[in-house]
Amino acid sequence: MMYPEYRPRRLRRTEALRAMVRETELTPSHLVYPLFIVPGKDVKRPIDAMPGCFQLSVDKALEEAKEVFGLGIPAIMLFGLPEHKDPKGSEAWAQHGVVQKATAALKRDVHGLLVITDVCMCEYTSHGHCGIVSRGDVENDATLESLAKIALSHARAGADMVAPSDMMDGRVEAIREALDENDFSHIPIMSYAVKYASAFYGPFRDAAESTPQFGDRKSYQMDPPNQREALREATLDLEEGADIIMVKPAMSYLDIIHLLRQEFTLPIAAYQVSGEYSMIKAAAMNGWIDESRVVEESLTGIRRAGADVIITYFAKDYAKKYKAG
Ligand code: PBG
Repeated sequence: MMYPEYRPRRLRRTEALRAMVRETELTPSHLVYPLFIVPGKDVKRPIDAMPGCFQLSVDKALEEAKEVFGLGIPAIMLFGLPEHKDPKGSEAWAQHGVVQKATAALKRDVHGLLVITDVCMCEYTSHGHCGIVSRGDVENDATLESLAKIALSHARAGADMVAPSDMMDGRVEAIREALDENDFSHIPIMSYAVKYASAFYGPFRDAAESTPQFGDRKSYQMDPPNQREALREATLDLEEGADIIMVKPAMSYLDIIHLLRQEFTLPIAAYQVSGEYSMIKAAAMNGWIDESRVVEESLTGIRRAGADVIITYFAKDYAKKYKAG
Protein backbone atom coordinates (compact mmCIF):
# COMPACT_ATOMS: atom_id res chain seq x y z
CA MET A 1 0.00 0.00 0.00
CA MET A 2 1.47 3.28 -1.12
CA TYR A 3 0.49 6.88 -1.29
CA PRO A 4 -1.58 8.18 -3.07
CA GLU A 5 -3.78 5.03 -3.16
CA TYR A 6 -3.38 4.62 0.58
CA ARG A 7 -3.89 7.68 2.76
CA PRO A 8 -3.60 6.94 6.51
CA ARG A 9 -5.26 10.25 7.30
CA ARG A 10 -8.62 8.92 6.03
CA LEU A 11 -9.13 7.00 9.28
CA ARG A 12 -8.14 9.93 11.47
CA ARG A 13 -10.73 12.35 10.17
CA THR A 14 -13.24 12.25 13.03
CA GLU A 15 -13.23 11.14 16.66
CA ALA A 16 -15.72 8.37 15.82
CA LEU A 17 -13.37 6.97 13.18
CA ARG A 18 -10.37 7.22 15.46
CA ALA A 19 -12.22 5.47 18.27
CA MET A 20 -13.37 2.71 15.92
CA VAL A 21 -9.83 1.70 14.98
CA ARG A 22 -8.13 2.48 18.31
CA GLU A 23 -5.77 -0.37 19.22
CA THR A 24 -5.23 0.16 22.93
CA GLU A 25 -7.86 0.52 25.60
CA LEU A 26 -7.36 2.32 28.87
CA THR A 27 -10.14 1.99 31.42
CA PRO A 28 -10.07 2.42 35.21
CA SER A 29 -10.53 -1.37 35.54
CA HIS A 30 -6.83 -1.79 34.71
CA LEU A 31 -5.64 0.55 37.44
CA VAL A 32 -4.45 0.11 41.03
CA TYR A 33 -4.22 3.07 43.43
CA PRO A 34 -1.49 3.03 46.13
CA LEU A 35 -2.28 4.24 49.68
CA PHE A 36 0.12 5.06 52.53
CA ILE A 37 -1.28 4.08 55.92
CA VAL A 38 -0.10 5.69 59.16
CA PRO A 39 -1.03 5.08 62.81
CA GLY A 40 -3.58 7.31 64.53
CA LYS A 41 -6.98 8.75 63.74
CA ASP A 42 -8.16 11.52 61.49
CA VAL A 43 -4.72 11.87 59.88
CA LYS A 44 -4.52 13.12 56.30
CA ARG A 45 -0.97 14.43 55.87
CA PRO A 46 0.05 15.79 52.46
CA ILE A 47 3.22 14.28 50.96
CA ASP A 48 5.38 17.24 49.89
CA ALA A 49 7.03 15.68 46.87
CA MET A 50 3.79 14.06 45.64
CA PRO A 51 1.12 16.78 45.41
CA GLY A 52 -2.34 15.24 45.70
CA CYS A 53 -1.11 12.20 47.68
CA PHE A 54 -1.44 11.77 51.44
CA GLN A 55 -0.41 9.64 54.38
CA LEU A 56 -3.72 8.40 55.79
CA SER A 57 -4.88 6.88 59.04
CA VAL A 58 -7.18 3.88 58.69
CA ASP A 59 -10.41 5.92 59.07
CA LYS A 60 -9.29 8.35 56.34
CA ALA A 61 -8.10 5.48 54.14
CA LEU A 62 -11.62 4.05 54.29
CA GLU A 63 -13.07 7.31 52.96
CA GLU A 64 -10.44 7.43 50.25
CA ALA A 65 -10.94 3.81 49.23
CA LYS A 66 -14.71 4.27 48.94
CA GLU A 67 -14.15 7.14 46.55
CA VAL A 68 -11.55 5.14 44.59
CA PHE A 69 -13.82 2.12 44.23
CA GLY A 70 -16.77 4.35 43.33
CA LEU A 71 -14.73 5.70 40.43
CA GLY A 72 -14.44 2.21 38.93
CA ILE A 73 -10.91 1.46 40.15
CA PRO A 74 -11.02 -2.15 41.36
CA ALA A 75 -7.97 -2.26 43.61
CA ILE A 76 -5.79 -0.40 46.03
CA MET A 77 -2.25 -1.25 47.10
CA LEU A 78 -1.31 -0.69 50.73
CA PHE A 79 1.97 0.57 52.17
CA GLY A 80 2.38 0.98 55.92
CA LEU A 81 4.35 3.32 58.15
CA PRO A 82 4.68 1.68 61.56
CA GLU A 83 4.60 3.21 65.02
CA HIS A 84 8.17 2.05 65.71
CA LYS A 85 10.97 0.83 63.50
CA ASP A 86 13.57 -1.71 64.61
CA PRO A 87 16.47 -3.52 62.91
CA LYS A 88 14.31 -6.59 62.19
CA GLY A 89 11.24 -4.65 61.03
CA SER A 90 9.07 -6.65 63.40
CA GLU A 91 5.98 -4.42 63.11
CA ALA A 92 5.71 -5.55 59.50
CA TRP A 93 4.07 -8.83 60.55
CA ALA A 94 2.33 -7.59 63.73
CA GLN A 95 -1.23 -8.83 63.97
CA HIS A 96 -2.41 -5.29 64.68
CA GLY A 97 0.10 -3.50 62.48
CA VAL A 98 -1.04 -0.59 60.31
CA VAL A 99 -1.45 -2.57 57.10
CA GLN A 100 -3.16 -5.47 58.85
CA LYS A 101 -5.64 -3.10 60.52
CA ALA A 102 -6.27 -1.19 57.31
CA THR A 103 -6.76 -4.41 55.34
CA ALA A 104 -9.33 -5.76 57.79
CA ALA A 105 -11.22 -2.45 57.87
CA LEU A 106 -11.23 -2.05 54.10
CA LYS A 107 -12.43 -5.61 53.52
CA ARG A 108 -15.17 -5.08 56.09
CA ASP A 109 -16.38 -1.70 54.81
CA VAL A 110 -15.70 -1.46 51.08
CA HIS A 111 -17.50 -4.40 49.57
CA GLY A 112 -15.90 -5.70 46.37
CA LEU A 113 -12.68 -3.67 46.61
CA LEU A 114 -9.51 -5.68 46.00
CA VAL A 115 -6.89 -5.10 48.67
CA ILE A 116 -3.34 -5.75 47.52
CA THR A 117 -0.56 -5.40 50.09
CA ASP A 118 3.05 -4.49 49.44
CA VAL A 119 5.26 -7.05 51.18
CA CYS A 120 8.58 -5.49 52.15
CA MET A 121 10.57 -4.47 55.20
CA CYS A 122 12.08 -1.12 54.27
CA GLU A 123 9.31 0.96 55.85
CA TYR A 124 9.66 -1.06 59.07
CA THR A 125 13.41 -1.40 59.58
CA SER A 126 15.37 1.27 61.43
CA HIS A 127 18.14 1.06 58.80
CA GLY A 128 15.65 1.38 55.92
CA HIS A 129 16.83 -1.67 53.98
CA CYS A 130 14.43 -4.26 52.56
CA GLY A 131 15.64 -7.12 54.78
CA ILE A 132 17.79 -8.27 57.68
CA VAL A 133 21.17 -6.57 57.60
CA SER A 134 24.36 -8.24 58.70
CA ARG A 135 27.93 -7.24 57.91
CA GLY A 136 26.71 -4.21 55.97
CA ASP A 137 24.51 -6.06 53.47
CA VAL A 138 21.02 -7.52 53.35
CA GLU A 139 21.11 -11.20 54.19
CA ASN A 140 19.01 -13.02 51.64
CA ASP A 141 17.99 -16.31 53.24
CA ALA A 142 17.36 -14.92 56.72
CA THR A 143 15.06 -12.32 55.17
CA LEU A 144 12.89 -14.92 53.42
CA GLU A 145 11.43 -16.11 56.68
CA SER A 146 10.34 -12.58 57.63
CA LEU A 147 8.82 -11.95 54.21
CA ALA A 148 6.79 -15.14 54.45
CA LYS A 149 5.56 -14.07 57.91
CA ILE A 150 4.57 -10.64 56.58
CA ALA A 151 2.66 -12.07 53.60
CA LEU A 152 0.88 -14.55 55.84
CA SER A 153 -0.12 -11.82 58.30
CA HIS A 154 -1.59 -9.82 55.40
CA ALA A 155 -3.54 -12.83 54.13
CA ARG A 156 -4.85 -13.46 57.66
CA ALA A 157 -6.03 -9.84 57.81
CA GLY A 158 -7.99 -10.47 54.60
CA ALA A 159 -5.71 -9.29 51.77
CA ASP A 160 -6.86 -10.38 48.31
CA MET A 161 -3.34 -10.41 46.89
CA VAL A 162 0.21 -9.94 48.17
CA ALA A 163 2.94 -8.10 46.29
CA PRO A 164 6.54 -8.72 47.40
CA SER A 165 8.77 -5.76 46.46
CA ASP A 166 11.97 -6.64 48.33
CA MET A 167 13.91 -8.35 45.49
CA MET A 168 15.35 -11.16 47.63
CA ASP A 169 16.12 -14.36 45.72
CA GLY A 170 13.61 -17.12 46.40
CA ARG A 171 11.00 -14.97 48.09
CA VAL A 172 8.08 -15.92 45.84
CA GLU A 173 8.63 -19.59 46.67
CA ALA A 174 8.93 -18.85 50.39
CA ILE A 175 5.71 -16.82 50.37
CA ARG A 176 3.82 -19.33 48.21
CA GLU A 177 4.76 -22.13 50.61
CA ALA A 178 3.71 -20.17 53.69
CA LEU A 179 0.37 -19.25 52.12
CA ASP A 180 -0.33 -22.78 50.90
CA GLU A 181 0.50 -24.37 54.25
CA ASN A 182 -1.98 -22.07 55.95
CA ASP A 183 -5.03 -22.50 53.72
CA PHE A 184 -4.34 -19.49 51.55
CA SER A 185 -3.65 -21.35 48.32
CA HIS A 186 -6.30 -19.16 46.65
CA ILE A 187 -4.40 -15.91 47.32
CA PRO A 188 -2.39 -14.76 44.30
CA ILE A 189 1.11 -13.29 44.36
CA MET A 190 1.91 -10.26 42.25
CA SER A 191 5.68 -10.24 42.34
CA TYR A 192 7.79 -7.20 41.68
CA ALA A 193 9.75 -9.56 39.45
CA VAL A 194 11.70 -6.95 37.55
CA LYS A 195 12.44 -4.07 39.87
CA TYR A 196 15.31 -1.77 39.02
CA ALA A 197 17.49 0.21 41.43
CA SER A 198 15.90 3.45 40.27
CA ALA A 199 16.28 7.11 41.16
CA PHE A 200 12.58 7.47 40.32
CA TYR A 201 11.67 6.09 43.78
CA GLY A 202 12.90 9.32 45.45
CA PRO A 203 9.52 10.85 46.36
CA PHE A 204 8.18 7.49 47.61
CA ARG A 205 10.96 7.23 50.16
CA ASP A 206 9.74 10.52 51.63
CA ALA A 207 6.17 9.30 51.54
CA ALA A 208 7.03 5.98 53.18
CA GLU A 209 9.93 7.33 55.25
CA SER A 210 12.04 4.45 53.98
CA THR A 211 15.28 5.97 52.71
CA PRO A 212 18.18 3.60 53.52
CA GLN A 213 20.27 5.01 56.38
CA PHE A 214 23.48 3.76 54.76
CA GLY A 215 24.40 2.55 51.30
CA ASP A 216 21.85 1.92 48.59
CA ARG A 217 19.67 -0.89 47.19
CA LYS A 218 21.96 -1.84 44.32
CA SER A 219 22.92 -5.21 45.84
CA TYR A 220 19.32 -6.42 45.55
CA GLN A 221 17.43 -4.28 43.02
CA MET A 222 18.37 -4.69 39.36
CA ASP A 223 20.93 -2.73 37.39
CA PRO A 224 19.03 -0.41 35.00
CA PRO A 225 21.08 -1.23 31.87
CA ASN A 226 20.08 -4.93 31.99
CA GLN A 227 17.43 -6.45 29.75
CA ARG A 228 18.32 -10.16 29.53
CA GLU A 229 18.45 -10.28 33.31
CA ALA A 230 14.79 -9.23 33.33
CA LEU A 231 13.94 -12.47 31.54
CA ARG A 232 15.84 -14.48 34.13
CA GLU A 233 14.16 -12.72 37.04
CA ALA A 234 10.70 -13.13 35.53
CA THR A 235 11.34 -16.81 34.75
CA LEU A 236 12.43 -17.48 38.33
CA ASP A 237 9.36 -15.81 39.81
CA LEU A 238 7.06 -17.61 37.44
CA GLU A 239 8.59 -20.96 38.35
CA GLU A 240 8.34 -20.12 42.04
CA GLY A 241 4.61 -19.49 41.68
CA ALA A 242 4.00 -15.83 40.82
CA ASP A 243 0.56 -15.13 39.33
CA ILE A 244 1.28 -11.65 38.00
CA ILE A 245 4.74 -10.31 37.21
CA MET A 246 5.53 -6.65 37.60
CA VAL A 247 7.98 -4.32 35.93
CA LYS A 248 9.02 -1.24 37.88
CA PRO A 249 9.44 1.66 37.11
CA ALA A 250 7.29 1.87 33.97
CA MET A 251 8.05 4.75 31.62
CA SER A 252 11.82 4.29 31.34
CA TYR A 253 11.35 0.51 31.05
CA LEU A 254 8.72 0.13 28.33
CA ASP A 255 11.09 -2.13 26.37
CA ILE A 256 11.14 -4.51 29.34
CA ILE A 257 7.33 -4.59 29.55
CA HIS A 258 7.18 -5.28 25.82
CA LEU A 259 9.78 -8.03 26.05
CA LEU A 260 8.02 -9.81 28.92
CA ARG A 261 4.70 -9.50 27.08
CA GLN A 262 6.22 -11.42 24.17
CA GLU A 263 7.95 -14.06 26.29
CA PHE A 264 5.31 -14.84 28.91
CA THR A 265 1.59 -15.53 28.95
CA LEU A 266 1.07 -14.43 32.57
CA PRO A 267 -0.58 -11.08 33.24
CA ILE A 268 1.94 -8.25 33.47
CA ALA A 269 1.72 -5.29 35.80
CA ALA A 270 3.70 -2.07 35.55
CA TYR A 271 4.30 0.44 38.35
CA GLN A 272 4.31 4.08 37.31
CA VAL A 273 6.34 5.13 40.34
CA SER A 274 6.49 8.20 42.52
CA GLY A 275 9.16 10.04 40.52
CA GLU A 276 7.21 9.54 37.31
CA TYR A 277 4.17 11.01 39.04
CA SER A 278 6.02 13.94 40.58
CA MET A 279 7.70 14.94 37.32
CA ILE A 280 4.38 15.18 35.52
CA LYS A 281 2.77 17.01 38.46
CA ALA A 282 5.64 19.50 38.75
CA ALA A 283 5.65 20.33 35.04
CA ALA A 284 1.86 20.70 35.08
CA MET A 285 1.96 22.95 38.15
CA ASN A 286 4.36 25.17 36.26
CA GLY A 287 1.93 25.34 33.36
CA TRP A 288 4.44 23.62 31.07
CA ILE A 289 2.30 20.64 30.04
CA ASP A 290 -1.38 19.71 29.91
CA GLU A 291 -1.57 17.34 32.89
CA SER A 292 -4.65 15.35 32.02
CA ARG A 293 -3.53 14.70 28.43
CA VAL A 294 -0.01 13.75 29.51
CA VAL A 295 -1.40 11.38 32.15
CA GLU A 296 -3.62 9.63 29.62
CA GLU A 297 -0.80 9.43 27.09
CA SER A 298 1.68 8.02 29.61
CA LEU A 299 -0.75 5.38 30.88
CA THR A 300 -1.76 4.46 27.33
CA GLY A 301 1.91 4.02 26.44
CA ILE A 302 2.37 1.61 29.34
CA ARG A 303 -0.69 -0.36 28.22
CA ARG A 304 0.48 -0.35 24.58
CA ALA A 305 3.86 -1.72 25.65
CA GLY A 306 2.00 -4.72 27.06
CA ALA A 307 0.94 -4.08 30.66
CA ASP A 308 -2.40 -5.52 31.74
CA VAL A 309 -2.40 -3.76 35.08
CA ILE A 310 -0.95 -0.35 35.99
CA ILE A 311 -0.22 0.76 39.53
CA THR A 312 -0.36 4.55 39.44
CA TYR A 313 -0.86 7.56 41.69
CA PHE A 314 -2.85 9.03 38.78
CA ALA A 315 -5.54 6.31 39.02
CA LYS A 316 -8.12 8.61 40.59
CA ASP A 317 -7.39 11.52 38.26
CA TYR A 318 -7.66 9.32 35.20
CA ALA A 319 -10.82 7.58 36.43
CA LYS A 320 -12.49 10.97 36.98
CA LYS A 321 -11.59 12.02 33.46
CA TYR A 322 -12.82 8.71 32.07
CA LYS A 323 -16.11 9.04 33.92
CA ALA A 324 -16.62 12.58 32.66
CA GLY A 325 -16.10 11.21 29.13
C1 PBG B 1 9.50 -0.91 48.86
C2 PBG B 1 8.96 -0.20 47.69
C3 PBG B 1 9.46 0.95 47.03
C4 PBG B 1 8.52 1.30 46.09
C5 PBG B 1 7.50 0.36 46.15
N1 PBG B 1 7.80 -0.57 47.13
C6 PBG B 1 10.65 1.76 47.30
C7 PBG B 1 12.01 1.27 47.11
O1 PBG B 1 12.26 0.15 46.67
O2 PBG B 1 12.88 2.06 47.47
C8 PBG B 1 8.59 2.50 45.18
C9 PBG B 1 7.30 3.04 44.70
C10 PBG B 1 7.36 4.41 44.13
O3 PBG B 1 8.42 5.03 43.95
O4 PBG B 1 6.27 4.91 43.84
N2 PBG B 1 10.57 -1.72 48.66
